[in-house]
Amino acid sequence: MTSRSFVGRQSQLAELELAYREALSGSPRLILLSGDSGVGKTRLLLEAEQAFGGTRVLRGQCLDQGELELPYAPLLGR
Ligand SMILES: Nc1ncnc2c1ncn2[C@@H]1O[C@H](COP(=O)(O)OP(=O)(O)O)[C@@H](O)[C@H]1O
Ligand SMILES: [Mg+2]
Repeated sequence: MTSRSFVGRQSQLAELELAYREALSGSPRLILLSGDSGVGKTRLLLEAEQAFGGTRVLRGQCLDQGELELPYAPLLGR
């Protein structure tokens, strides 16, 4: 179940927005967003995308590994 309301995360949104603005003004930024599964990483990025808007967003994701859930598997693989 997904809540339509986005709760909290104001400081994280502000941090993302600052990085976004700095990038727009010519200083590229890299942010590593980490956290346990279900903590809200994807939602935070979706909210940020909507809040700042007006930019092209590229997404990537790992292949579904089915039953195998080895953290960082794509990075650890040969
Ligand atoms: N700040 C929030 N307010 C409301 N719902 C949230 C919030 N963060 C996450 N959720 C909801 O919790 C669920 C899991 O979040 P998700 O972003 O998919 O987690 P993650 O990407 O870290 O695994 C989703 O249904 C999402 O919409
Ligand atoms: Mg996610």
